[in-house]
Amino acid sequence: MGPYRSYLFFHPDQIRDLLVTHWSSFRKMKHQVNVMKQWDGNGLVLSEGEFWQRQHRLVQPSFSSKRIRDYAQVMVTRTERRLNRWRKRPSFELDSERNTLTMEIITECLFGSEVESRAKEIEAAVMHLSEIGVKEFQSPVSVPSWIPTSHNRCKAHAIRVLDGIIRGFIDERKRNPEMLKNRNDLLSTLIAASDPQLGRMTDTQARDEAMVLFLAGHDTTATALIWIFYHLGLHPAWQEKIVSEIRAVAGERTPQFEDCEKLVLLRAFIQETIRLYPPAIGVFGRENEREVSIGGYTIPKNSVVFTSSYTTHRDPRWFPDPLTFNPERFLGARVKEIPHFAYFPFGGGPRICTGMQFAMVEMALVVATVLQRYQLENEPNQVVEPKVMISLRPKNPIRVRVASRASPIARSRGFF
Ligand code: HEM
Repeated sequence: MGPYRSYLFFHPDQIRDLLVTHWSSFRKMKHQVNVMKQWDGNGLVLSEGEFWQRQHRLVQPSFSSKRIRDYAQVMVTRTERRLNRWRKRPSFELDSERNTLTMEIITECLFGSEVESRAKEIEAAVMHLSEIGVKEFQSPVSVPSWIPTSHNRCKAHAIRVLDGIIRGFIDERKRNPEMLKNRNDLLSTLIAASDPQLGRMTDTQARDEAMVLFLAGHDTTATALIWIFYHLGLHPAWQEKIVSEIRAVAGERTPQFEDCEKLVLLRAFIQETIRLYPPAIGVFGRENEREVSIGGYTIPKNSVVFTSSYTTHRDPRWFPDPLTFNPERFLGARVKEIPHFAYFPFGGGPRICTGMQFAMVEMALVVATVLQRYQLENEPNQVVEPKVMISLRPKNPIRVRVASRASPIARSRGFF
């Protein structure tokens, strides 16, 4: 591949070698890093070595179960607020809904603030960076950023929008130390976090980490939710089984953090959806700094190694009848039949997704809150195909119809 010799690995044992056994022999692929560095700076997804270890230590406490319990409240409240707007809209495109909702959630958890007045602008910026990112990943040569092509102008504008917002939040806290002490949001925790040897992060580093968490936390979960809602529409029997489970666990009250582990059918449904449509698909490019052996193959120094969750998740050796949507695979004893690293939507080893629990709780609580109030149905005759961006999105927007479960229409369809 251009100047690189590249290897693709799909067997679970080889994926374990790559992500766990020999993880320290690899770095993230230089070309991908150079693309994402333009907006993520030296944030957690891209940093390496001792610097990565220190940042990982500083960021990790913000994702403890205790903190996620606090964020869970935000997730439910935000979803309920958005649902109130659905009453007047019997059908809509999932794409814009899920974007706005997950953006509202991550913004409040990360910055403890609302950005409603700038939501459209931020959404457009995130979308542009996702498109630009994948174009630049796939192109072996890149036009220098200072050349004013429309591509570069669009990229510079998107970065300016997000940068301005995040730096604004950091400045606000720096100007007001009381605010820093009293706030419980992720950014305040990051700014206050301190390493025994190296002290606090610089403002630029806090900006980079906040940008990574904002983009990683928004786009992937939003994409997963599209595929989950689409599959709920495709499988009405599963939808109703999950509604019964939510009723049994939460009754008439809103769902909460502690409910998540009891919502086993819902969890299996989410796991099966991200098996078929793993949202973070293009992130596994690595380069090795020393010769390494994977699955009996010698990989010379400075090669490029890829794996693909999309491919391994669809391998009939690990998932019989792989293209059939079947959440039963993740229930009871059957889950033990799946070999380690045949399923890795969140990666694995030391570089596993920092936001995995956050994302699983968010997906479960958003879906449970929606299903308590609405029945979902896909609009007929839609052609649904995935498209590889930085996340794996549907090529065309998917339209769904919603019917209130308390409305005569839901009753007439027997949804009580
Ligand atoms: C369904 C949702 C999500 C999926 C499928 C997902 C997937 C992934 C994957 C596959 C990686 C590993 C990349 C690699 O090995 O190179 C990763 C890393 C990461 N994710 Fe997520 N992610 C999700 C949600 C989130 C959320 C909600 C956050 C934060 C709020 C987050 C923050 C991160 C960070 C910081 C890393 C880098 C970890 C490191 O290298 O130390 N992710 N994610």
